[in-house]
Amino acid sequence: MPFLLPNRYKGKLIVVEGIDGSGKSTQISLLSRWLRSRGLAVAFSEWNSSPLVRRTTRRGKKKEMFTPASFSLIHATDFADRLESYILPLVKAGAVVCADRYAYTAFARDVARGVSRRWVRNLYSFALRPDLCFYFRVPLDVALGRILGGRNAIKYYEAGMDLGLSRDLEESFRIFQGRILDEYEAMAGEAGFHIIDAALSIEEQQRQMRAVVRERIGEALDSQVLRLPEGIDETA
Ligand SMILES: Nc1ncnc2c1ncn2[C@@H]1O[C@H](COP(=O)(O)OP(=O)(O)O)[C@@H](O)[C@H]1O
Ligand SMILES: [Mg+2]
Repeated sequence: MPFLLPNRYKGKLIVVEGIDGSGKSTQISLLSRWLRSRGLAVAFSEWNSSPLVRRTTRRGKKKEMFTPASFSLIHATDFADRLESYILPLVKAGAVVCADRYAYTAFARDVARGVSRRWVRNLYSFALRPDLCFYFRVPLDVALGRILGGRNAIKYYEAGMDLGLSRDLEESFRIFQGRILDEYEAMAGEAGFHIIDAALSIEEQQRQMRAVVRERIGEALDSQVLRLPEGIDETA
């Protein structure tokens, strides 16, 4: 994506993207553990986590007050705060930041919610371009099966219920996630995604991710990225 800013800092930014149930969280957690076990300074960043707007977001969602544009703007504000107060300082300091969802989530989801592609890309033009972005490609039914099997309630906005796609929550969720999947597929080339077949086993996907990491940023990890002094275990 030409308008994201290239990373000229010592640290690295690794991102996972894909629809709900594609296995992103499972894989990035395994990858960050592996990087940590190699002695690297690794931090973790999640979508929707900035304390600055958490309460407003929660309240707006509870009262079902968001329009597609205000939904997009509040998430961009959330992202800007997380980028500037957390991700950027860590990457500048030389850490590896592993992000569970990044700007591409907005590019896929907000467009699926009806805002224009150009508008939302412009909105995020201040974002740092990831060094690696893994996209977990999975058939809709496989992802839905994992999600619906694993938990009880789909939330209103997650299902795109405000868009009037269907009165049935599960049907709306299916249509909405299908649209998001189409957007991810449409941007895959432009965004330079490393596509992982997310229907494979957890172990095989992880093996492929590690191979890509070694090949693409292995040298920087060995020479440039911040290492923790021996004996310090961040996770302890
Ligand atoms: N390769 C896989 N095969 C089968 N089940 C998987 C696989 N990867 C993840 N899962 C399961 O699917 C569910 C969703 O995985 P998760 O990593 O939370 O996805 P996401 O973060 O993309 O929503 C979890 O219950 C997880 O254990
Ligand atoms: Mg997840």
